Amino acid sequence: MRALTRKSLDLQNHWEQIYKNRSHAQVSWHQTHPTTSLNWILEHTEPSQPIIDVGSGVSVLMDNLIEAGYSNLSAVELSKSAVIATQKRLGSNVPLPKFYVQNILDFETNQRFDLWHDRAVFHFLTVESEQKNYIKKLNMCLAKGGYFLLATFAPEGPSSCSSLDVMRYDEMALSTLLSDDFRLIKTSHEDHITPNGKMQKFNYFLLQKISLPLNMKAIY
Ligand SMILES: C[S@@+](CC[C@H](N)C(=O)[O-])C[C@H]1O[C@@H](n2cnc3c(N)ncnc32)[C@H](O)[C@@H]1O
Repeated sequence: MRALTRKSLDLQNHWEQIYKNRSHAQVSWHQTHPTTSLNWILEHTEPSQPIIDVGSGVSVLMDNLIEAGYSNLSAVELSKSAVIATQKRLGSNVPLPKFYVQNILDFETNQRFDLWHDRAVFHFLTVESEQKNYIKKLNMCLAKGGYFLLATFAPEGPSSCSSLDVMRYDEMALSTLLSDDFRLIKTSHEDHITPNGKMQKFNYFLLQKISLPLNMKAIY
């Protein structure tokens, strides 16, 4: 595992403070049921397939997938406190996910995943070079035909979260970032109600990695 860069360390401290100082059920992105993510994963994958959750936080998505019989799960998360809290909650009687306490931009693995899930993480990347780096990692780690399930703030959603600026995406904004290596399968809009009762507009995207032979790509 590579050492964290200065920027990753600052970002890690930022998220550490949030998870140490706030009740996990009170963070604005808290969901009791990650319904859209879970339904789409169950619809498009089998329990034996490798799945990764990027910026897993303290989400119960892993719990729900384990309950559904998923046994090849991984998660990348900057905050050690969030990972420890998730591991404690899961206990030891289940096929535990592999957790990597890391910045996704520094993540390296030989494993190939059939689905890459990201709810409210990619939208924190506001610098073009970081967005490109993320997409490069995604392309490297996702198997051919694999799915990219992304949830971001929608254009009418908040412009910041946890004191950090965010990007907001609709289909057009996302497709200009992703190459023609991905085709959009479906989208969904969600009005997320925060624990304080505020409404935040989210967009969900399910994309599939297609792999055309190089000579075909030239035609498109
Ligand atoms: C808004 S929270 C969303 C958490 C979770 N996905 C959910 O839906 O409940 C963003 C999470 O991403 C993590 N995070 C932020 N930037 C990251 C990065 N570059 N690499 C890995 N994790 C990151 C934060 O620590 C935090 O747990």
